[in-house]
Amino acid sequence: MTISFGNPFEILLAWSERTLKVSEEQSALEVLIAAEVPIEPGCMTGACGKCATQYVEGAVMHKDSCLSDEERKTRFCPCVSRADGCLVLPY
Ligand code: FES
Repeated sequence: MTISFGNPFEILLAWSERTLKVSEEQSALEVLIAAEVPIEPGCMTGACGKCATQYVEGAVMHKDSCLSDEERKTRFCPCVSRADGCLVLPY
């Protein structure tokens, strides 16, 4: 059985000019770690905030339960959250 994390989307690493594809079967966190973006995984359920990462542009679909509305304007939790289209990160 394949577990679906949600919709596929892309992550653009702006400074290194790399585009990463996040499939339905992947979390953004595992794709970012595989691309050697320095993010520490924690709970993997959107609860601890340890993976919270800055983004600069994109329609994030926040699925965490730890960030405030204010924090969500600039940060997202890639262990659970996704994006509609392309998400731009400052890496
Ligand atoms: S690892 Fe805990 S919120 Fe992402």
